Amino acid sequence: MYINFWYPMIRSEDLGPDKPERAKVLGLNFAVFRDSKGRAHVLSDTCVHRGGSLGGAWELGKNPRIVDDCVVCPYHGWEFDGQGECKNIPSIGYGTKPPPRAKVDAYPTVEKYGIVFAFLGDLPENERPPLLEIEEFTDPAWRANSVLVLEVDYYYERSIENGLDPAHNEFVHPTHGFKGINRETYKVRDYDVENYPQGWGMWFLHRFNAPGLKDETWKDARTKAGELYAGSGTHGPNTMITEINVGNNQKFRQYFFEQPVDQNRTRIFFVNMRNFMLEAHNDGPIHARNKVIAQQDIEILVDVYPPRTPTSNTKEVLMPADKAVVAYREWLSKFDDRGWRIDWDEFTRRNGKDTAYAIPSPRRRGSGNWVLEPVPLLSSRAERKASKEATG
Ligand code: FES
Ligand SMILES: [Fe+2]
Repeated sequence: MYINFWYPMIRSEDLGPDKPERAKVLGLNFAVFRDSKGRAHVLSDTCVHRGGSLGGAWELGKNPRIVDDCVVCPYHGWEFDGQGECKNIPSIGYGTKPPPRAKVDAYPTVEKYGIVFAFLGDLPENERPPLLEIEEFTDPAWRANSVLVLEVDYYYERSIENGLDPAHNEFVHPTHGFKGINRETYKVRDYDVENYPQGWGMWFLHRFNAPGLKDETWKDARTKAGELYAGSGTHGPNTMITEINVGNNQKFRQYFFEQPVDQNRTRIFFVNMRNFMLEAHNDGPIHARNKVIAQQDIEILVDVYPPRTPTSNTKEVLMPADKAVVAYREWLSKFDDRGWRIDWDEFTRRNGKDTAYAIPSPRRRGSGNWVLEPVPLLSSRAERKASKEATG
């Protein structure tokens, strides 16, 4: 898991005007709330007074939880604004200036595609990897389904790798219509991997046979030769893009913004775009079908071991069809080399015992006096390997 990327926090429709919501991402809690203008803010969830949960759901006596554009800690009523600054401490009197250490990390926040995203990291604005741009999102020739959130009990990197894997379809997705492999001729075609145009990941286009595609819904989904084209790629560690060309310039483009909850859990924010079947009444059946396909992947992936991807490709037997997975891992290794990977073993050793961690926010670069410890990071893949060996 990496700091310094954009992560989905919550669907826009799930964040109301009156109370904060809590989201767990990268193993830590965050409080998400809206100010009086409706703008979303994301703060580290841990109140620096004595550890109350700013996004917690306590509603004793129906105390207001958002006051003067501040989220109110449910424990002793400290009020924090969208910049994480404490504006009021009731016990010293409203209007009395709080001490400088009364602040929590606040994260750059953007609301787009029906999702509230936060940049979880401390990079200054001009150095931040961008949020993925869905170029066709506002194009009237395309239609987006409402955001589907898939909750899965496995690590996000395994989930992304599954989406980059052209060899699993015939085995995992009988509903694609590809079952009944011809053992004499079956083979995954070779494909080329390139960089994704937005610059923070990889992309490949793959041509595969779809002879058994009988379902009428997909009758246009075949080229004359009974072939389909599909592409997949990545942007940062946690965003995956899939394009499915179903013939006659009809396409699905699917965007998976993955929220790593912890090592064993991921929430996938799924935006499905299409440039055909544009009428609203198709949304429901498309959602339903996507859910069925997702469930097939889930049943396989909950059993994959170990939960995290191995530190070395020699710990698995990779084939040419796994080229895209290897390319994704190479990108992760670049993020490792920037020192953005959370040292998960060290983190879990101390987190939730006597230590409260926070993802460092951009303001930490310019000011001291931060109460919570920043999450431990590994400075490179080599260090990650060494630490693995040391801890066995
Ligand atoms: S713990 Fe938040 S106000 Fe006391
Ligand atoms: Fe799949």
